Amino acid sequence: MAAVEIRPGIHWIGVNDRTTDLFEGLWPVSHEGVSYNAYLINDEKKVIIDLAKAFKTDEFFSQIAEIVELSQIDAVVVNHVEPDHTGVLRTLKKIAPDMSILATPKAKAMLDNFYEIGENVREVQDGETLDTGSHTLTFVHTPFVHWPETMMTYETTQRILFSCDGFGGYGALRGAIFDDQCTDHDFYQREALRYFVNIVAKFSTAVLKAMGKLSDVPVDIVAPSHGLVWRRNPSRILELYKKWSELASGPGSRAVTLVYGTMYGNTEVAMNAVAQGISAEGIEVDMFDAARTHVSYILPSLWEKGGVMIGAPTYEGALFPPVRQVIEMAAQKSIRHKKAAMFGSFGWSGGAYKSFERLVEPLKWELVDSFVFPGGPTKADLRKAEEFGAAFARRITSQD
Ligand code: FEO
Repeated sequence: MAAVEIRPGIHWIGVNDRTTDLFEGLWPVSHEGVSYNAYLINDEKKVIIDLAKAFKTDEFFSQIAEIVELSQIDAVVVNHVEPDHTGVLRTLKKIAPDMSILATPKAKAMLDNFYEIGENVREVQDGETLDTGSHTLTFVHTPFVHWPETMMTYETTQRILFSCDGFGGYGALRGAIFDDQCTDHDFYQREALRYFVNIVAKFSTAVLKAMGKLSDVPVDIVAPSHGLVWRRNPSRILELYKKWSELASGPGSRAVTLVYGTMYGNTEVAMNAVAQGISAEGIEVDMFDAARTHVSYILPSLWEKGGVMIGAPTYEGALFPPVRQVIEMAAQKSIRHKKAAMFGSFGWSGGAYKSFERLVEPLKWELVDSFVFPGGPTKADLRKAEEFGAAFARRITSQD
Protein backbone atom coordinates (compact mmCIF):
# COMPACT_ATOMS: atom_id res chain seq x y z
CA MET A 1 0.00 0.00 0.00
CA ALA A 2 1.14 3.53 -0.73
CA ALA A 3 1.91 5.91 2.14
CA VAL A 4 -1.12 7.93 3.32
CA GLU A 5 -1.00 11.49 4.67
CA ILE A 6 -3.21 11.44 7.76
CA ARG A 7 -2.70 15.11 8.68
CA PRO A 8 -0.50 17.74 6.99
CA GLY A 9 3.08 16.50 7.27
CA ILE A 10 2.12 13.31 9.13
CA HIS A 11 2.09 10.10 7.11
CA TRP A 12 1.11 6.50 7.67
CA ILE A 13 3.99 4.44 6.26
CA GLY A 14 2.93 0.99 7.43
CA VAL A 15 3.08 -2.38 5.72
CA ASN A 16 0.72 -5.35 5.61
CA ASP A 17 1.89 -8.86 6.46
CA ARG A 18 -0.16 -11.62 4.84
CA THR A 19 2.55 -14.30 4.84
CA THR A 20 3.39 -14.75 8.53
CA ASP A 21 1.37 -17.74 9.72
CA LEU A 22 1.96 -17.29 13.45
CA PHE A 23 2.24 -13.87 15.08
CA GLU A 24 4.82 -14.07 17.89
CA GLY A 25 5.43 -17.59 16.54
CA LEU A 26 2.26 -18.59 18.36
CA TRP A 27 -0.98 -16.93 17.24
CA PRO A 28 -2.51 -17.76 13.84
CA VAL A 29 -2.91 -14.87 11.42
CA SER A 30 -2.70 -16.78 8.11
CA HIS A 31 -6.22 -15.84 7.13
CA GLU A 32 -6.49 -12.46 8.80
CA GLY A 33 -3.03 -10.99 8.29
CA VAL A 34 -1.61 -8.18 10.39
CA SER A 35 -0.30 -4.70 9.72
CA TYR A 36 2.80 -3.05 11.10
CA ASN A 37 1.79 0.59 11.18
CA ALA A 38 4.51 3.21 11.35
CA TYR A 39 4.34 6.96 10.93
CA LEU A 40 6.55 9.66 9.47
CA ILE A 41 6.63 13.28 10.61
CA ASN A 42 7.91 15.14 7.55
CA ASP A 43 8.91 18.42 9.15
CA GLU A 44 12.09 20.41 9.67
CA LYS A 45 13.12 17.27 11.48
CA LYS A 46 12.21 14.00 9.77
CA VAL A 47 11.05 11.62 12.45
CA ILE A 48 9.74 8.06 12.13
CA ILE A 49 7.51 6.65 14.87
CA ASP A 50 7.87 2.86 15.11
CA LEU A 51 9.17 0.61 12.36
CA ALA A 52 8.36 -2.85 10.96
CA LYS A 53 9.38 -6.49 11.03
CA ALA A 54 12.75 -7.30 9.43
CA PHE A 55 11.50 -9.32 6.46
CA LYS A 56 9.46 -6.27 5.37
CA THR A 57 12.56 -4.05 5.10
CA ASP A 58 12.43 -3.44 1.34
CA GLU A 59 8.72 -2.62 1.28
CA PHE A 60 8.98 -0.45 4.38
CA PHE A 61 11.90 1.54 3.03
CA SER A 62 10.02 2.08 -0.24
CA GLN A 63 7.15 3.57 1.75
CA ILE A 64 9.47 6.06 3.40
CA ALA A 65 11.32 6.85 0.16
CA GLU A 66 8.04 8.01 -1.40
CA ILE A 67 8.27 10.99 0.94
CA VAL A 68 11.88 11.50 2.09
CA GLU A 69 15.31 10.06 1.43
CA LEU A 70 16.13 7.44 4.07
CA SER A 71 19.48 9.10 4.69
CA GLN A 72 17.63 12.29 5.72
CA ILE A 73 15.89 10.68 8.68
CA ASP A 74 16.81 12.65 11.81
CA ALA A 75 15.26 10.41 14.44
CA VAL A 76 13.34 7.22 15.08
CA VAL A 77 10.98 6.96 18.02
CA VAL A 78 11.00 3.40 19.36
CA ASN A 79 7.80 3.15 21.37
CA HIS A 80 8.37 -0.58 21.90
CA VAL A 81 11.36 -2.84 21.22
CA GLU A 82 9.49 -6.01 20.17
CA PRO A 83 10.90 -6.98 16.76
CA ASP A 84 7.62 -6.55 14.88
CA HIS A 85 8.31 -2.81 15.39
CA THR A 86 12.10 -2.72 15.31
CA GLY A 87 13.23 -5.46 12.92
CA VAL A 88 14.36 -2.99 10.23
CA LEU A 89 16.32 -0.84 12.70
CA ARG A 90 19.80 -2.28 12.11
CA THR A 91 19.52 -1.78 8.36
CA LEU A 92 18.03 1.70 8.71
CA LYS A 93 20.88 2.68 11.01
CA LYS A 94 23.39 1.67 8.36
CA ILE A 95 21.67 3.99 5.86
CA ALA A 96 21.19 6.86 8.32
CA PRO A 97 24.01 6.33 10.86
CA ASP A 98 23.63 9.75 12.50
CA MET A 99 19.92 9.50 13.24
CA SER A 100 18.89 9.56 16.88
CA ILE A 101 16.94 6.68 18.37
CA LEU A 102 14.54 7.92 21.04
CA ALA A 103 13.36 5.38 23.61
CA THR A 104 12.65 4.91 27.29
CA PRO A 105 15.59 4.06 29.58
CA LYS A 106 14.45 0.42 29.72
CA ALA A 107 14.16 0.31 25.94
CA LYS A 108 17.72 1.60 25.62
CA ALA A 109 19.02 -1.46 27.44
CA MET A 110 16.78 -3.75 25.40
CA LEU A 111 17.97 -2.28 22.10
CA ASP A 112 21.47 -3.23 23.16
CA ASN A 113 20.30 -6.76 24.09
CA PHE A 114 18.30 -7.37 20.93
CA TYR A 115 20.42 -5.55 18.34
CA GLU A 116 23.69 -4.45 19.99
CA ILE A 117 22.64 -0.89 19.20
CA GLY A 118 23.72 1.71 21.74
CA GLU A 119 25.19 4.54 19.72
CA ASN A 120 22.92 7.57 19.28
CA VAL A 121 20.24 6.04 21.47
CA ARG A 122 18.77 8.85 23.55
CA GLU A 123 16.68 8.11 26.62
CA VAL A 124 13.47 10.12 26.81
CA GLN A 125 11.80 10.75 30.13
CA ASP A 126 8.10 10.53 30.82
CA GLY A 127 6.49 13.77 29.58
CA GLU A 128 9.55 14.91 27.65
CA THR A 129 8.85 16.66 24.34
CA LEU A 130 10.50 16.88 20.94
CA ASP A 131 9.93 19.87 18.68
CA THR A 132 10.19 18.84 15.03
CA GLY A 133 9.50 22.33 13.63
CA SER A 134 5.75 22.67 13.31
CA HIS A 135 4.88 19.59 15.37
CA THR A 136 5.54 18.67 18.97
CA LEU A 137 5.83 15.10 20.17
CA THR A 138 5.29 14.24 23.82
CA PHE A 139 6.52 10.89 25.12
CA VAL A 140 4.27 9.14 27.61
CA HIS A 141 5.71 6.14 29.41
CA THR A 142 3.15 3.31 29.47
CA PRO A 143 5.03 0.34 30.95
CA PHE A 144 3.65 -3.13 30.16
CA VAL A 145 1.46 -2.07 27.29
CA HIS A 146 2.89 -4.53 26.18
CA TRP A 147 6.48 -4.91 27.50
CA PRO A 148 8.04 -3.03 30.42
CA GLU A 149 9.85 -0.52 28.19
CA THR A 150 6.76 0.57 26.27
CA MET A 151 5.71 4.17 25.72
CA MET A 152 3.23 6.03 23.55
CA THR A 153 3.89 9.21 21.59
CA TYR A 154 1.39 12.07 21.46
CA GLU A 155 1.45 14.68 18.71
CA THR A 156 0.08 17.83 20.30
CA THR A 157 -0.85 20.06 17.34
CA GLN A 158 -3.04 17.46 15.60
CA ARG A 159 -3.89 15.56 18.79
CA ILE A 160 -2.76 12.18 17.49
CA LEU A 161 -1.92 9.36 19.88
CA PHE A 162 0.63 6.94 18.43
CA SER A 163 -0.21 4.13 20.79
CA CYS A 164 1.89 1.23 19.42
CA ASP A 165 0.45 -2.13 20.64
CA GLY A 166 -2.19 -0.38 22.74
CA PHE A 167 -5.55 -0.14 20.93
CA GLY A 168 -4.23 -2.34 18.13
CA GLY A 169 -5.69 -5.40 16.47
CA TYR A 170 -4.96 -8.22 14.04
CA GLY A 171 -6.18 -7.91 10.48
CA ALA A 172 -4.14 -6.68 7.54
CA LEU A 173 -5.52 -3.44 6.10
CA ARG A 174 -7.73 -3.94 3.07
CA GLY A 175 -6.86 -0.72 1.28
CA ALA A 176 -8.50 1.48 3.89
CA ILE A 177 -6.40 2.50 6.86
CA PHE A 178 -9.05 4.63 8.65
CA ASP A 179 -12.09 3.50 10.62
CA ASP A 180 -14.31 5.81 8.52
CA GLN A 181 -13.19 4.12 5.28
CA CYS A 182 -13.53 0.63 6.67
CA THR A 183 -16.47 -1.41 5.39
CA ASP A 184 -16.03 -4.38 7.71
CA HIS A 185 -16.02 -3.13 11.28
CA ASP A 186 -17.16 -6.51 12.62
CA PHE A 187 -14.00 -8.14 11.29
CA TYR A 188 -11.67 -5.52 12.78
CA GLN A 189 -13.48 -5.45 16.12
CA ARG A 190 -13.39 -9.25 16.35
CA GLU A 191 -9.69 -9.26 15.47
CA ALA A 192 -8.95 -6.41 17.88
CA LEU A 193 -10.48 -8.49 20.69
CA ARG A 194 -8.54 -11.61 19.65
CA TYR A 195 -5.33 -9.55 19.51
CA PHE A 196 -6.11 -7.95 22.87
CA VAL A 197 -6.70 -11.30 24.60
CA ASN A 198 -3.75 -13.03 22.91
CA ILE A 199 -1.21 -10.24 23.39
CA VAL A 200 -2.24 -7.51 25.82
CA ALA A 201 -4.88 -8.88 28.21
CA LYS A 202 -2.31 -10.26 30.65
CA PHE A 203 -1.38 -6.61 31.22
CA SER A 204 -4.90 -5.25 31.62
CA THR A 205 -3.99 -3.38 34.80
CA ALA A 206 -1.23 -1.59 32.89
CA VAL A 207 -3.66 -0.74 30.07
CA LEU A 208 -6.12 0.83 32.52
CA LYS A 209 -3.27 2.70 34.24
CA ALA A 210 -2.10 4.08 30.90
CA MET A 211 -5.64 5.10 29.99
CA GLY A 212 -6.01 6.85 33.33
CA LYS A 213 -2.77 8.72 32.71
CA LEU A 214 -4.07 9.84 29.29
CA SER A 215 -7.62 10.59 30.41
CA ASP A 216 -7.18 14.37 30.26
CA VAL A 217 -5.36 14.32 26.93
CA PRO A 218 -7.58 15.29 23.97
CA VAL A 219 -7.22 12.66 21.27
CA ASP A 220 -8.56 13.24 17.74
CA ILE A 221 -6.84 10.23 16.17
CA VAL A 222 -5.75 6.94 17.71
CA ALA A 223 -2.94 5.60 15.53
CA PRO A 224 -1.83 2.19 16.79
CA SER A 225 0.90 0.02 15.30
CA HIS A 226 -1.47 -2.79 14.30
CA GLY A 227 -4.85 -2.49 12.60
CA LEU A 228 -7.11 0.43 11.83
CA VAL A 229 -6.30 4.10 12.46
CA TRP A 230 -9.26 5.58 14.35
CA ARG A 231 -10.05 9.07 13.11
CA ARG A 232 -13.85 9.35 12.93
CA ASN A 233 -14.53 7.63 16.22
CA PRO A 234 -11.33 7.31 18.26
CA SER A 235 -13.31 6.85 21.45
CA ARG A 236 -14.71 3.58 20.05
CA ILE A 237 -11.44 1.65 20.31
CA LEU A 238 -10.58 3.35 23.62
CA GLU A 239 -13.92 2.27 25.10
CA LEU A 240 -13.50 -1.28 23.83
CA TYR A 241 -10.03 -1.58 25.34
CA LYS A 242 -11.31 -0.19 28.64
CA LYS A 243 -14.21 -2.64 28.69
CA TRP A 244 -11.99 -5.59 27.79
CA SER A 245 -9.33 -4.61 30.34
CA GLU A 246 -11.91 -4.31 33.10
CA LEU A 247 -12.97 -7.92 32.43
CA ALA A 248 -9.66 -9.00 33.99
CA SER A 249 -11.23 -8.39 37.38
CA GLY A 250 -14.93 -8.67 36.53
CA PRO A 251 -17.41 -11.51 36.21
CA GLY A 252 -17.93 -11.52 32.43
CA SER A 253 -21.20 -11.54 30.55
CA ARG A 254 -24.15 -13.80 31.28
CA ALA A 255 -23.21 -16.24 28.56
CA VAL A 256 -21.33 -19.51 28.27
CA THR A 257 -18.20 -20.70 26.51
CA LEU A 258 -18.46 -24.43 25.91
CA VAL A 259 -15.07 -26.04 25.26
CA TYR A 260 -15.14 -29.75 24.54
CA GLY A 261 -13.07 -32.62 23.26
CA THR A 262 -14.17 -36.07 22.26
CA MET A 263 -12.36 -39.28 21.29
CA TYR A 264 -15.13 -41.48 19.89
CA GLY A 265 -18.12 -39.13 20.03
CA ASN A 266 -19.54 -40.09 23.44
CA THR A 267 -18.71 -36.79 25.11
CA GLU A 268 -19.85 -35.01 21.94
CA VAL A 269 -23.30 -36.63 22.14
CA ALA A 270 -23.59 -35.49 25.74
CA MET A 271 -22.27 -32.05 24.72
CA ASN A 272 -25.18 -31.58 22.34
CA ALA A 273 -27.63 -32.36 25.14
CA VAL A 274 -25.82 -29.97 27.51
CA ALA A 275 -25.91 -27.23 24.85
CA GLN A 276 -29.64 -27.80 24.33
CA GLY A 277 -30.16 -27.34 28.05
CA ILE A 278 -28.18 -24.10 28.09
CA SER A 279 -29.92 -22.73 25.00
CA ALA A 280 -33.36 -23.66 26.32
CA GLU A 281 -32.71 -21.15 29.14
CA GLY A 282 -32.08 -18.41 26.57
CA ILE A 283 -28.38 -18.19 27.30
CA GLU A 284 -25.89 -17.56 24.48
CA VAL A 285 -23.33 -20.32 24.11
CA ASP A 286 -20.08 -20.26 22.09
CA MET A 287 -18.90 -23.76 21.23
CA PHE A 288 -15.34 -24.92 20.49
CA ASP A 289 -13.86 -28.32 19.71
CA ALA A 290 -10.55 -27.93 21.54
CA ALA A 291 -8.75 -30.44 19.32
CA ARG A 292 -9.71 -28.63 16.13
CA THR A 293 -9.68 -24.96 17.11
CA HIS A 294 -6.52 -23.00 17.90
CA VAL A 295 -6.68 -21.62 21.42
CA SER A 296 -6.16 -18.12 19.98
CA TYR A 297 -9.81 -18.22 18.81
CA ILE A 298 -11.14 -19.69 22.08
CA LEU A 299 -9.52 -17.20 24.46
CA PRO A 300 -11.67 -14.18 23.43
CA SER A 301 -14.84 -16.06 24.32
CA LEU A 302 -13.38 -17.23 27.63
CA TRP A 303 -12.34 -13.66 28.38
CA GLU A 304 -15.75 -12.13 27.72
CA LYS A 305 -18.21 -14.70 29.01
CA GLY A 306 -18.94 -15.40 32.65
CA GLY A 307 -19.63 -19.12 32.33
CA VAL A 308 -17.30 -21.90 31.22
CA MET A 309 -18.67 -25.35 30.43
CA ILE A 310 -15.99 -27.97 29.89
CA GLY A 311 -16.74 -31.26 28.15
CA ALA A 312 -13.93 -33.79 28.15
CA PRO A 313 -13.36 -37.50 28.48
CA THR A 314 -10.83 -39.08 30.75
CA TYR A 315 -7.59 -39.78 28.91
CA GLU A 316 -5.00 -41.96 30.66
CA GLY A 317 -6.50 -41.09 34.03
CA ALA A 318 -6.55 -37.33 33.40
CA LEU A 319 -8.28 -34.58 31.41
CA PHE A 320 -8.32 -35.02 27.62
CA PRO A 321 -5.10 -33.18 26.53
CA PRO A 322 -6.54 -30.68 24.00
CA VAL A 323 -8.98 -29.41 26.63
CA ARG A 324 -6.25 -29.33 29.26
CA GLN A 325 -4.10 -27.20 26.95
CA VAL A 326 -6.90 -24.64 26.56
CA ILE A 327 -7.25 -24.33 30.34
CA GLU A 328 -3.49 -24.03 30.75
CA MET A 329 -3.44 -21.15 28.25
CA ALA A 330 -6.38 -19.55 30.07
CA ALA A 331 -4.22 -19.74 33.21
CA GLN A 332 -1.27 -18.24 31.34
CA LYS A 333 -3.52 -15.33 30.37
CA SER A 334 -4.92 -14.95 33.91
CA ILE A 335 -8.52 -15.58 32.85
CA ARG A 336 -10.25 -15.59 36.22
CA HIS A 337 -13.60 -15.01 37.91
CA LYS A 338 -15.58 -17.64 36.03
CA LYS A 339 -18.33 -20.00 37.00
CA ALA A 340 -17.47 -23.40 35.58
CA ALA A 341 -18.84 -26.90 35.26
CA MET A 342 -17.58 -30.07 33.65
CA PHE A 343 -19.07 -33.14 32.04
CA GLY A 344 -17.79 -36.08 30.03
CA SER A 345 -17.34 -39.77 29.56
CA PHE A 346 -14.92 -41.33 32.01
CA GLY A 347 -14.49 -44.51 29.95
CA TRP A 348 -13.80 -47.07 32.63
CA SER A 349 -11.65 -45.41 35.31
CA GLY A 350 -12.26 -41.66 35.62
CA GLY A 351 -9.75 -39.00 36.62
CA ALA A 352 -10.62 -36.14 34.26
CA TYR A 353 -12.65 -34.21 36.83
CA LYS A 354 -9.93 -34.41 39.48
CA SER A 355 -7.34 -33.14 37.02
CA PHE A 356 -9.78 -30.37 35.98
CA GLU A 357 -10.15 -29.33 39.63
CA ARG A 358 -6.39 -29.14 40.05
CA LEU A 359 -5.99 -27.10 36.85
CA VAL A 360 -8.54 -24.45 37.70
CA GLU A 361 -7.69 -24.15 41.41
CA PRO A 362 -5.11 -21.37 40.82
CA LEU A 363 -7.56 -19.63 38.46
CA LYS A 364 -10.10 -19.45 41.27
CA TRP A 365 -12.91 -20.55 38.96
CA GLU A 366 -16.01 -21.44 40.95
CA LEU A 367 -16.85 -25.06 40.11
CA VAL A 368 -20.61 -25.23 40.40
CA ASP A 369 -21.43 -28.68 39.04
CA SER A 370 -20.20 -31.81 37.26
CA PHE A 371 -21.75 -34.70 35.38
CA VAL A 372 -19.78 -37.75 34.30
CA PHE A 373 -20.86 -41.11 32.93
CA PRO A 374 -19.08 -44.36 31.97
CA GLY A 375 -18.59 -45.24 28.31
CA GLY A 376 -21.39 -43.89 26.12
CA PRO A 377 -24.31 -41.85 27.48
CA THR A 378 -27.63 -43.67 27.95
CA LYS A 379 -30.98 -42.02 27.24
CA ALA A 380 -31.22 -41.30 30.95
CA ASP A 381 -27.73 -39.76 30.86
CA LEU A 382 -28.76 -37.49 28.01
CA ARG A 383 -31.82 -36.30 29.91
CA LYS A 384 -29.52 -35.59 32.89
CA ALA A 385 -27.04 -33.83 30.59
CA GLU A 386 -29.76 -31.51 29.28
CA GLU A 387 -30.93 -30.68 32.79
CA PHE A 388 -27.29 -30.23 33.87
CA GLY A 389 -26.84 -27.66 31.06
CA ALA A 390 -30.07 -25.88 31.96
CA ALA A 391 -29.17 -25.73 35.66
CA PHE A 392 -25.76 -24.24 34.80
CA ALA A 393 -27.40 -21.64 32.55
CA ARG A 394 -29.70 -20.64 35.43
CA ARG A 395 -26.64 -20.16 37.66
CA ILE A 396 -25.10 -17.92 35.04
CA THR A 397 -28.34 -15.95 34.72
CA SER A 398 -28.61 -15.44 38.45
CA GLN A 399 -24.87 -14.55 38.84
CA ASP A 400 -25.16 -15.51 42.51
FE1 FEO B 1 3.38 -5.33 18.25
FE2 FEO B 1 4.40 -6.09 21.47
O1 FEO B 1 4.59 -5.83 19.61
